[in-house]
Amino acid sequence: MKNIDFNFVADIYDAYVPMDFDIEFFNKYAKAAKGKWLELMCGTGRVSIPLLKKGIELTCVDYSEEMLKVLEQKTIDLSNKPKIICQDVCALNLGEKYELICIPFNSFSEITDREKQKMALVRIFNHLSDDGLFICTLYNPSYRIKTADGQIHVLGRFPLYQENSLVVSYYNQYDDMTQSVKGMQFYEIYNSSNVLTGKRFLDIHFSLISQEAFEKMALESGFAIKEVFGDYNFSRFTEESMFMNFVLKKR
Ligand SMILES: C[S@@+](CC[C@H](N)C(=O)[O-])C[C@H]1O[C@@H](n2cnc3c(N)ncnc32)[C@H](O)[C@@H]1O
Repeated sequence: MKNIDFNFVADIYDAYVPMDFDIEFFNKYAKAAKGKWLELMCGTGRVSIPLLKKGIELTCVDYSEEMLKVLEQKTIDLSNKPKIICQDVCALNLGEKYELICIPFNSFSEITDREKQKMALVRIFNHLSDDGLFICTLYNPSYRIKTADGQIHVLGRFPLYQENSLVVSYYNQYDDMTQSVKGMQFYEIYNSSNVLTGKRFLDIHFSLISQEAFEKMALESGFAIKEVFGDYNFSRFTEESMFMNFVLKKR
């Protein structure tokens, strides 16, 4: 069972996630790139497509068949095509090693069980070349918890196909017992006359992982912490940072 089943919203994901705030960060690594890259939890390729356009030899993994179908469609006209694989990161088994492995956009936190998080890290370690890097970008939990207040928040109104529009709202509630956030995302589709023509709900469940907890799991899995950035401009992580972006290497 998936904690957030993106199969239900794969066709509209790109409309409400048009962000590109992290692309330059990954592009900087791409400039010095050698060898094969592995992007885990790639979704519809928000980060993959710019990397492919930079000439990166990329394997993309996700366990949502529908998200991967969208990615496949979007890469049809690219000369540099990715290898696309449907697999659970916790059971990652590709039989290859990579120079760089990344998990963009806080997606690692969608693994909510601590044991499974560790399993994923061990699998990732086994797929990393000896001098490779693993980049795992997360939110700083003390920032993220502020939006987990049980209130409805409107994410925005986004243009959709044929002059339709999509309104997305959500509520998130922090659960201290499980140190995770549960909630729901609401999707409303309006036609060009502003008449509501469709409605969807998506259950949300993700964990808030502290710096100490992530570093402990990473060290136990054989990694060393190379850097922790607090944003996508390579600033050092502090308690006030919005993000908690780890760069790990093999110990
Ligand atoms: C928030 S989306 C991010 C997609 C993309 N990386 C981006 O930046 O837009 C999270 C993605 O992680 C995938 N995912 C979550 N848990 C996974 C797991 N255990 N194994 C593989 N994919 C997973 C979901 O299916 C979804 O496509």
